Amino acid sequence: MCGVFAISSSDIQNAGEKVIEGLKKLEYRGYDSWGVATSDTIIKQVGKISESTSHFPPDTKAIGHSRWATHGGVTKENSHPHKYKSVILVHNGIFENYLTEKERLLEKGEVFVSNTDSEVIAHLIQEQLDLSHNIKSAIQNVAQMIIGRFSIIVMVEGYNEIFVARRGSPLIIGRGKDQYAHTTFVASDIPAFLEYTNIVNYIDDDEMAIIHNDHVTFYDLDSGKEKEKRNIEVSWKEEIADKGEYNHFMIKEIFDQKQSLTAAINHTDQEIKNFISDLQSGNGVYMIACGTAHKVCIAAEYYFSYIAGRKINVVPASEMPAFERFINKKTILFAVSQSGETADILEVLEFGKKRGAKILSITNVESSSIARISDNHLSIHAGKEKAVASTKATTSQMALLLLLAYADNNRLNAGRLVLQDLASNVNDLLNPRYEKYIKSVAETLKDSNNIFIIGRNSLYPIALESAIKIMEVSYIHAQGFAAGEMKHGPIALIEKNSPCIVLGCDNETISNAIELKSRGAKIIGVASENHMIFDQWLKIPSAGTAISIASVLPIQILSYYLATLRGLDPDMPRNLAKSVTVK
Ligand code: G6P
Repeated sequence: MCGVFAISSSDIQNAGEKVIEGLKKLEYRGYDSWGVATSDTIIKQVGKISESTSHFPPDTKAIGHSRWATHGGVTKENSHPHKYKSVILVHNGIFENYLTEKERLLEKGEVFVSNTDSEVIAHLIQEQLDLSHNIKSAIQNVAQMIIGRFSIIVMVEGYNEIFVARRGSPLIIGRGKDQYAHTTFVASDIPAFLEYTNIVNYIDDDEMAIIHNDHVTFYDLDSGKEKEKRNIEVSWKEEIADKGEYNHFMIKEIFDQKQSLTAAINHTDQEIKNFISDLQSGNGVYMIACGTAHKVCIAAEYYFSYIAGRKINVVPASEMPAFERFINKKTILFAVSQSGETADILEVLEFGKKRGAKILSITNVESSSIARISDNHLSIHAGKEKAVASTKATTSQMALLLLLAYADNNRLNAGRLVLQDLASNVNDLLNPRYEKYIKSVAETLKDSNNIFIIGRNSLYPIALESAIKIMEVSYIHAQGFAAGEMKHGPIALIEKNSPCIVLGCDNETISNAIELKSRGAKIIGVASENHMIFDQWLKIPSAGTAISIASVLPIQILSYYLATLRGLDPDMPRNLAKSVTVK
């Protein structure tokens, strides 16, 4: 993943510091280390760029990078930018065959200072530049050598321009305006430059651009032929990420669910019907997603089955290659993604596009790569989600998918009523008293080594999602199971006081909970009614077919407090990133 950002300008004199400011807005893409280069200064540091107080000498161009480590540990040497002789480069992506090229260059006597794949790209560009003395063809030739996904931004000593190229990893140009009319920005995501401009050009796969101040020329990366690009005005306003009265974005975003559920279903009937008609137009639907969004898709598999009588195939995007043989012109590929940039998903969609499949998607970022590649797209309108652990985007995705399932059964209005009811109950539920109570439950669980979660039907995927939420922010091992599966192995782990979260209080789930309690488990029930078997009770509103959405909320709050009570930062958990643009 990683965030890249660059400025070429004759209006901005402190480009190095402006690049640091922009990178702070991309920190969700990776926060292991960062680095920025101007023409004659490179600063790199391990740690979060939000904590940086670095200063640069005046300059009108700079490139920078906030890193999520893939190849090579979290060290200063492995941080970008990488410099080799005259070439300075930042890279987002993975150069899969880098070792072959590295070995060749080592045999030539070249010396590497990092363990990264990215440094090899700098060496290769220098090698090609030495041969042709033409930087454009040097970058084109190196792109031919790379197997994998990349976006690169390059500065070369002796050249005024910045050179950029893309295959697979996002790269967007911001065209400066008003007081920045002679400035161009390049970033892996729009927020990095949104305070300066909302006029953008999307660099597509296998394209490159040469940038000098406000002059930008686009080329096809293979043929080298010049290309025209439209200026696109994005409707985003700069959303100032503000924690307000809250200590962390995670808890703020949990409370944003008082409004976000309503926003998620705020599509016209026609938009929903068009989407459903596309969904119905094929012969087999594959829902693909990663992480939390994948668990949301499993919940949707239940919604479509129960409400619409439709079988949906849900596959984690990274596992889809095993099923690609079934993708054809009749297939509907339905992607669900908060960021709209997840590489594993994009790779499946690109493959599907070539096979003629129809592509539908739901994202939170309307101008994302996934939204743009789709034949039909709906936004969840959740507003910016900053904390790495997804909360409001999760429930918004679920709400929209539940509505779609009703629409698929010609009962759109009934779906709206269920969800409006839920939104209003959630509004009542999320209050300081409720939060305080869940914090007190977290106090009793914070020193646990393991937490088990069970659920059945549409609460089974919520058991899986709950485990992700608890693990990713509190680092407590947590595992979710289909309630009926506990007795087929995992029950062997239950000891006196093993915490088991039980989602739902239907008879069968309660029977499974009793089996756990009989072995000494402590039962934390998540349900609209209390039950004598529960040692602790996390109340949810009664929500009918939307019970899975309601059940997510107390677990999100519990996870937040498990993290903070253990002294952890829930907004930026170790080893994670919000937008995962590498495979
Ligand atoms: C990362 C995030 C998860 C997210 C997953 C998929 O792992 O930390 O919260 O669920 O990516 O991201 P997407 O943007 O496609 O929903």
